[in-house]
Amino acid sequence: MHKLLIKIRPTIKLLALSVTVAILMLFSMISMATTADDIAEGKQLAFNRKKGNCLACHAMEGGDLAGNTGPPMIVMQARYPDRSKLSQQIADPTIKNPNTLMPPFGRHGILTDTEIEKITTYLLTL
Ligand code: HEC
Repeated sequence: MHKLLIKIRPTIKLLALSVTVAILMLFSMISMATTADDIAEGKQLAFNRKKGNCLACHAMEGGDLAGNTGPPMIVMQARYPDRSKLSQQIADPTIKNPNTLMPPFGRHGILTDTEIEKITTYLLTL
C-alpha cells in the first residue's frame, strides 16, 4: 500500500496542478466575460438618451449627433489613471466644479452606483 502511494504520488501532484490551472483559467474566463459585459452595458447606458445621455454634451467614438458642451471622451485611461476619480466625476461633477452644467448622475439618482461603475469601465476603453 505504502509503495503504491509513493509510486502514484507524482501523478497525484500533477493531477492537483492541472485541476488548479483549470480552475484559475475558468476564473479568468469568467472575469473576462464580466468585463466585456460591463463595457457593453456601460456603453448602452452612456448612449441611452433616457439614462446617461452623455452624448448630449460629449463626443464618444461611435456615438451619433454628439454635443460639444463638454470635452470629448478620449484617451481616458491615460487621463484617469485613478479610476475612482472618473466615477466620482460622473456621480457628482459639482465636487470638482460647483458651477458645472453636467448633471450629478449619482447624487440625483439618475444612475445607480452599479450603472456608474459600468459606464466608468466603458469610458476607460476610450
Ligand atoms: C448637460 C451636459 C452634460 C452631460 C449630459 C454630461 N456631461 Fe460630462 N461634462 C459636461 C461639461 C460641461 C464638462 C466640463 C467640466 C465642467 O464643466 O465641470 C463635463 C466633464 C466631464 C468629464 C471630465 C472631463 C474630462 O474630459 O475628463 C467626464 C469624465 C464626463 N463629463 C463624463 C460624462 C459622462 C460619463 C456623462 C454621461 C453619464 C456625462 N459626462 C454627461 C457636461 C455634460
